[in-house]
Amino acid sequence: MKILAIESSCDETAAAVVEDGRKVLSSIVASQVEEHRLYGGVVPEIASRRHAEAITPVVRRALSEADLTLSDIGAIAVTYAPGLIGALLVGVNFAKGLALSTGLPLVPTHHLRSHIASNYISNQELKPPFLCLVVSGGHSHIVMVEDYTKMKIIGQTRDDAAGEAFDKAARTMGMPYPGGIELDKVAENGDPKAFKLPRPVVHDAPYDFSFSGLKTAVINLIHNASQKGEELNKADVCASFRYAVVDCLTANFLKAARDLNVNQLVIAGGVSANSLLRRTLESECKKHGYSFYMPEKSLCGDNAAMVGAQGYYEYLSGNTANSDLNAYATLSIEK
Ligand code: KG4
Ligand code: ZN
Repeated sequence: MKILAIESSCDETAAAVVEDGRKVLSSIVASQVEEHRLYGGVVPEIASRRHAEAITPVVRRALSEADLTLSDIGAIAVTYAPGLIGALLVGVNFAKGLALSTGLPLVPTHHLRSHIASNYISNQELKPPFLCLVVSGGHSHIVMVEDYTKMKIIGQTRDDAAGEAFDKAARTMGMPYPGGIELDKVAENGDPKAFKLPRPVVHDAPYDFSFSGLKTAVINLIHNASQKGEELNKADVCASFRYAVVDCLTANFLKAARDLNVNQLVIAGGVSANSLLRRTLESECKKHGYSFYMPEKSLCGDNAAMVGAQGYYEYLSGNTANSDLNAYATLSIEK
């Protein structure tokens, strides 16, 4: 079955055609990041307006690059939560109109579930159950994926998401939005042990994360140095900060895997592109005898191919909506 998938939860307008949840026939992503960079972050109203302009040509291109027409499509999957509400509504309403005019089933798809599903494209043999670390700009979760549409949150951040922490630290060092990517690159040439940064733990919740203290610690380090007129080695600051974030993420994730006795470990979301996170988990999993899966780098960020992958499994489990489908800024991955 071929699914036409639509994604507009943040600053990427994306459409894709995916066959049977695993085979990407086309994937188009129109990014607005250059425009938001001027403001140091995503401006919600601008995002909604750009989605409204881009969505028709992006969907048309996804169909034409797959060499298909709407008559070849079996269902329409769309991201309906979580994300920027105005942005989500553009995709949801477009998908609703398309479903109404074609008579095709409409499949509401959760954005974080889609991030997880990017792994079904990159790792064809992967099947649930597995434990997944979902790390994006807005979320940091450890999720037990019991089945394709059955998930349980094992741990989550109490404050900032990992991506948010990376972006704020990067911004303090003058890097353009979204700074996580550049911070990762600069960190490659630095000493991760140059600066001692905290590894915050959440009392009585061993799988939860807290990144706001760590973020404040690195911001203070940078500000204090600049007040004293001292020049810090940027690569060393990036490397030390990245090491601290990755340490927190991997420690809880590996502890959860051990405690829950899971042997398939998976990462997903924008931050799963982080080089150190990928390297660390690859070697730790090898050491512990776990199978480890990650999305290819091009599928870590927001895209619609992953929506087509998850949408297929949502459709199989009977999750379809009618024309009263709404969008939600927040919604648990368990729902
Ligand atoms: O999943 P995503 O594309 O969008 C959301 O759903 O939030 O994640 C975007 C986040 C941004 O915070 C970005 O800085 C971060 O992922 N990110 C990275 C890297 N690549 C993207 N963070 C650290 N290292 C990277 N290589
Ligand atoms: Zn995302």
